[in-house]
Formats: sequence, structure tokens, C-alpha cells
Amino acid sequence: MSPESENVLPAFDADAIHAGNFALGIDHEKVAREVDTLMARMSLAQKIHEIRGHGPLPADSLWCAGGDEELGIAAWRMVDGPRGARAGVATAFPVAIARAATFDVDLERRVGMAIGLEVAAKGGNVLLAPTINLLRHPGWGRAQETYSEDTHHTGAMGVAFISGAQNHVLTSPKHFALNNLENTRFEMSGDIDARSLREVYLRHFERCVVEAGAASVMTAYNKVNGTYCCQNPELLQAILRDDWGFRGFVESDWYLGTRSTARALNAGLDIEMPAPYRFTDEKLEEALASGRLHEDTIHRNARHSVYQKVAWQLEDDAVAGKTRPDAARFVECDEHVALAREAAEKSMVLLKNAAELLPLERTGDTRIALVGDLADEINLGDRGSSMVTSTRVSKPLDGIRAAAGGATVTHFASDADLTGLADFDVCVVVAGLSYRDEGEFIPTAQQEAEGGDLARGGDRESLALPAAQRDLIERAATVARRTVVVLQGGSAIVVRDWIDDVEALLMTWYAGREGGLALGRVLFGDVCPSGRLPVSFPRHDDDLLPWDVAALSVEHDLLHGYRWLDHHAVAPEFPFGFGLSYTRFDLSELRVTRSEDEDASGGGFRCRVGVHNVGARAGAAVVQLYVSCSDSRVFRVPKELRGFGRVELEADGRATLEFALPDADLCFWDVETESWQLEDCRYRFRVGSSSADLPLEATCRRADGSWESVVYSPSPQ
Ligand code: GLC
Repeated sequence: MSPESENVLPAFDADAIHAGNFALGIDHEKVAREVDTLMARMSLAQKIHEIRGHGPLPADSLWCAGGDEELGIAAWRMVDGPRGARAGVATAFPVAIARAATFDVDLERRVGMAIGLEVAAKGGNVLLAPTINLLRHPGWGRAQETYSEDTHHTGAMGVAFISGAQNHVLTSPKHFALNNLENTRFEMSGDIDARSLREVYLRHFERCVVEAGAASVMTAYNKVNGTYCCQNPELLQAILRDDWGFRGFVESDWYLGTRSTARALNAGLDIEMPAPYRFTDEKLEEALASGRLHEDTIHRNARHSVYQKVAWQLEDDAVAGKTRPDAARFVECDEHVALAREAAEKSMVLLKNAAELLPLERTGDTRIALVGDLADEINLGDRGSSMVTSTRVSKPLDGIRAAAGGATVTHFASDADLTGLADFDVCVVVAGLSYRDEGEFIPTAQQEAEGGDLARGGDRESLALPAAQRDLIERAATVARRTVVVLQGGSAIVVRDWIDDVEALLMTWYAGREGGLALGRVLFGDVCPSGRLPVSFPRHDDDLLPWDVAALSVEHDLLHGYRWLDHHAVAPEFPFGFGLSYTRFDLSELRVTRSEDEDASGGGFRCRVGVHNVGARAGAAVVQLYVSCSDSRVFRVPKELRGFGRVELEADGRATLEFALPDADLCFWDVETESWQLEDCRYRFRVGSSSADLPLEATCRRADGSWESVVYSPSPQ
């Protein structure tokens, strides 16, 4: 293909992703002047009102903080969460990990924009999202709420969500930092060396602050290296503000998120949410009188909040210069419902398809058995702070019947007699997890649960399905001629016990209000599955790093997920980035070129790869770029994701994807110099369709600060 005729698509189009993000257009010099004038008029009492929430319960689902009528300062009105507005009814999108499986940053931007719009329509001005804690272990109860085990993937999805949502409201990426264990989240300490902290567990937070201008950050409940996040000056001052230049405000997590008065304020916690327990008048007066706290600290912290209110032109019924949108027009509007279905369709990951059983036939004499209670249940995810209620939810049974055409669909409950399954052409079992098995751990209030059973959320000790679900699959597969398993859940699930007994497996996550319709369209081939795993599925629980849901101290390092599996040479059941399709793609013609002015921070590489849909139907390819280093003077993990791009192609369609790879993405954190270092060593660029399938490769050595020529293997013909 000649270069000029190439259809070159950027894997990550930053201009498009960040379009309309109000934070990126703020005139900070002008704001600073206005803020200082306003602050000079504030009494100490008015500043104190700015650094705490209004009360332990929300007002009309809005968590409020600060504000002063006399000075014309509006209050913050905060609303959860990562899968939709948790205020009345709203569009329940697929959970974040499902959207991460699309590897579609444009889609994630549009979802962020839609949720931000619905939050604004409900009178909110801060969206308490995205959750971007790295999935250190798939057993984390809130895995469903975050994006990925990989920092590059998490960063890309996070900045896309933030830039979309910040078209309408402020966002608050959370939980800063190392919140990746649920049951002991209020007490545990994430213990970590400086390099792992910077390179792996904070890099995506840094992107959200620096690239997407996150307007606030929420601290985590836990400790980092023995110090609670809410009072951790290394996190809140040295890294967040001094290194990253963060201008926003820092709010605590709720209730137990603030652990002190003077210590937290001095460390950089700006707002105690949802109410004053530590930032009460009495405790503040006592701290001031003792000399542990100074008024200028209260001034500084209150100013972080007021600064954002001025920067975002906050008014009672307007934010970012836009008046409150009409809720009747925008909440669960047709466009958002269609977007929720698009996200669900693109999120589903086809993990097995023996004899190309899928897509299903739907001629008049096709008889389909649909097995399992979950086929006829609403299963949107956990019932903690990210819960969303929609007016209508399509269940698997609804969607499969809607797409079945002439085929008949007969539903069997989980406790039904399944001996008759042999009379059906195919059996579809809907199995998996629910809020009863995993979710945010709320020890006080039992999460709402049907049938009187209690659902406290929490971590999963094992990644295997509950016994009743495994038994259901086995009972069906033993009798049925051919079995498709549709899996629901918020993270990796160990399938080793039964995967060889079924013909097809589709991971559908918690797919949101349109999940049933999306499932039907994927199963019958109206849509080609295109999801890829954002988390490694191990063969066995003990293939991954040690996991103790009661741990009070957790060592973090450079290894987890595919990085752990690669390093220990353990093959996963299904690798990170893996997913099948109803069509096939050829990747070819890798070209790696060096450019010295890649971005403000210096040079970088551009990697181009040809993508060809060689199958008989339209589909989406997700191309991934991994980088490895050899001859390094420090330990390096076997490979790291450093780029991904998604491209939809008709049958026989072609495109060229271009990855920008700035030198910053090749650096390691040097603990000696406490800085990012670009090293003289050999860099290996590998491109393919999953972390375990990287057929295209090029290497380039850097010696004495200069780059040698790129070497391809195999050499291009
Ligand atoms: C919770 C969550 C946090 C949420 C907050 C408000 O405890 O940890 O993610 O935004 O409370 O609901």
C-alpha cells in the first residue's frame, strides 16, 4: 500500500479525547487574581466552612461542601460514580472494567460526557469518579469499578473519561492511592518502594492530573507505607502538587476517610467529607491554640477549593459557564441508552468458540435452551457507592428473545430438571457472580438485598465461581448437545474446572441497563464481539501473587497480573488483552521511526502497523504495543503495555494504526536521583492482538545518548 493512500489512524487522538474539557482551557493567572481578592474578604469561619462537608447524609442525593451566600460562593454538590449518576434514576452504564474491555478511548470519553451531563442535570457539579486504582489482584471487591491491571490502559481510559465528563462537571479520580483490597480498606497499609509507586501505582493518577486536568482527587481510606493517605504529605504535597502541579482540591473518602485534624490539614487534605468529624470548630480551635495548626494552612486548603469554584465559574445552577441541563431531556435520554448498549456490545469478550458455534443459528426450527436464574435477573453490579438505578433494564432473557428471530427460546431456572436439554440444538447457560459475591465493603449498612439475605460486598478469596454456579454449568453441559456459557462478573473468574466441557464462553461483565439486548445481538451475530481482557484470567488461584483478604499490610512491587505471570513463566487461562472475534485480522508492515521533537518533553518513536480484516464480516481489531528492555542496569519486567488502538473494519477493509511512543514512556524511576531516567539499553517494540500474541517486532538500541537504527525481526521482505 503506498504511503499516500494509507488510511493512517492515530491509536490515541489526544486532541479528540480532550476536546471540550473545561479544565484545559482555564486562564490560571486570571483565576489566581480573582481568588486572592475573594479570599481576602473571607473570615476564618468562612474558610473553615469551605474545608468540610455539610452533613452525614446527602441532600437529594447530593453531597454538599462549602459555599457562602454572602460572598456568592456556591457549594460543591458531589455525586457518585463510575457507572452512572447515583441520584434517583439514571443511565446505568456497563461497569468500568467492562468499558475497559472495549479498549475504546473515544467510547469512554463519550460515556464520561454522558454521565457528567446527567450529574449536571441532577444539580451536581462534581462527579466522584473515575475509580482508577490498579487491579493488583482480580479478587478485589471493587475490581468492577476500576479499569484494568495495567497502568497504561488505566491511564488512557481514565483521562478519556475525565475529559469527557469535564465537559460538564468537575471529576474526582479515586482513591489516591493503593486502594486495592476491600475488606481491610479502612486499616490496611499498602507498603511499596518508590520505584513501584511511581512507575506502576501512580502513573495513571499522574496522567489524569497532568493530561486531563482532573479538578479534584479523592484520598483512599488506607495507609501508604504506614501513613493514612488523608495525612500523607509525600502523596498530597510532594508528589501531587510539587511534582505534578495539581491545582485542584483534595477531598477525603467518606466518614473514615479523615483520621486527624492538624495532621491531615498540614499534609494537604483540603475537604473532610461528608461532614465535620475531625474538622469541627472545637477540634480546629484546639489545634490552632496548640500551635499544631496555623490559620494560613486553613487559608491554603480553603483556597484550593475556592480556586476551583472560581476557575469553573461555579454558580448555584451553573458550572463551566453552562446552566443546569434539563433533567427530563437528558437523564436516560435515547442517546445515552444507545451509548449504554454500544458500550455493552463492545465490552463483551469472546473467550472460546469451538467449531465456531457462535454466532447462533436463528432459523425457524432452531430450539435454544436458556439456563440459569441469572438469565432472568437484573445484575448491574455491586450495591455500594457506585450503584445506579435505571427505569428499565434488559435482562439476558429479554435480549436473547428479542434477537432470536425464528428460533424458539425456552428458559430453565437454575433448579429446573435439565434432563430435557438434549432435545435442544444449543444450550446457553447464564452463570456468574453478583453483588452477593463481590463489591464495595460497607460493614455498617447492609447493602440492599432481595430475599432478606445480607450483601456486604467485599473481596473474593477465590476466583472460582460459587459451587452452585459451577454445578449448574456442569449439569447443563453433561446433557446438552452443545453449550455456550455467558459469564457475568466484575473481574477475572477461574474457569478451569468446566471450560473443557463447554463449546463457547462469552464474558459479559455487569453490562448495564442495555446488557440483555447487547448480549442477544452478540450471540446471534448482529454485532461482532470485540472485547479484550483488561485483566488476566489465571488457570488457578495460586498462579497469581499471594492474596490475603484479611491482610493489614500488603507489599506492592513491580509485579502483578501479566507482569507477574510473565516473570514467573506461568501461562494464564486467557491472557491480558485477549479476545476472539467472528472475523480475523492480519497485522503487518510494522514501521518504527524516531522523531526528536515528539512532544514537549523531548523525542520519541512512532510505530505504524497495517491492519487487514481478512474475514468475511465487519469487526473491530484491538492492536496492542508492548515494550521490553534488555541490558538495563535495573530490573525490568518482561514487557509492558505502552499503546493500544481499536479500529473497526469491513470485510477486506484495511487501515494503518499509528502509535506515538514518547521517550517518557520508556523511562524508569531512578530512586537515586528521584527522577525519570531514559537509559542506554536495548528497547524491543512488539505489536500484536494480545499480550500473548505479538508477531511483529523491532528493536532499537540507545548508546551514549544516541539512538542506533531500528532492526526488525523478521526483517521486512
Ligand atoms: C465510599 C467510596 C467512595 C465514594 C464515597 C461516597 O466509601 O469509597 O468511592 O465516592 O464513599 O459515596
